[in-house]
Amino acid sequence: MAVTQKAQRIPLIAGNWKLNLDHLQSIAFVQKLAWTLQDARLDFRKVEVAVFPPFTDLRSVQSLIAADHFPIVFGAQDISEHDSGAYTGEVSGAFLKALDCSYVLVGHSERRTYHHETNEQVGAKAAAAIRHGVVPIICVGETAEDLEARGASAVPVEQLTVALEQLPDGAGADVVVAYEPVWAIGSGQAATPEQAESVAIQLRAVLADALGPEAADRTRILYGGSVKSGNIASFLREPNVDGALVGGASLVVDEFAKIARFQSHVGV
Ligand code: 13P
Repeated sequence: MAVTQKAQRIPLIAGNWKLNLDHLQSIAFVQKLAWTLQDARLDFRKVEVAVFPPFTDLRSVQSLIAADHFPIVFGAQDISEHDSGAYTGEVSGAFLKALDCSYVLVGHSERRTYHHETNEQVGAKAAAAIRHGVVPIICVGETAEDLEARGASAVPVEQLTVALEQLPDGAGADVVVAYEPVWAIGSGQAATPEQAESVAIQLRAVLADALGPEAADRTRILYGGSVKSGNIASFLREPNVDGALVGGASLVVDEFAKIARFQSHVGV
């Protein structure tokens, strides 16, 4: 994939808070993050910064960002594949859109593991997001056992292929893909940038087959798994890696702000 195409994709630095920070803590966090990035004169035309708080924080984060015109966007960590009905505990795409969510994570490995989400369900959730004008971030990644048995790309390619098959009007759809090797999540052991790039190339080929070459070229593919300020630049140097999905390091304002400022790191 040519470097000029990468230049047209605005990098996305996304912080997945998981089950951390309540709505009051979310206000303090987003305020400090916005001030830190503004003080550092981050050029928000060159990088998009997003946070993914728990559902109960979304309204607070929305109100704060709107009131103070912070150039930060946000999304939810999950979405129901259903639009309404007797689905206790679920949150619909319409509700997320009404709160101005730009994005929603679907198929995070923790949901696949603890809630047994299948590739079909992940695709149905992505379809629900698209139906309501929320961009799904489709998460894929191999376990250590998958890596050993089938190499790095086989499982992520399969997960993305099946998920995209569930989009009724796949062609041209607006999605983001996050490649997160399960063994790299929270382990302190990130994949190498070369592995991230090699899997990203194959995921982009899947996108081209399912959505068409133009959509594939403009789709951002993120890397996630033990991303820190010290390694972010090495991932973003790869031609097919267009951002990061950050877990633990997204909960520390100064560290997350440094990750968002990867373009100012030496050599990028
Ligand atoms: P860590 O950055 O803590 O490894 O988590 C990655 C992740 O799961 C983001 O969704």
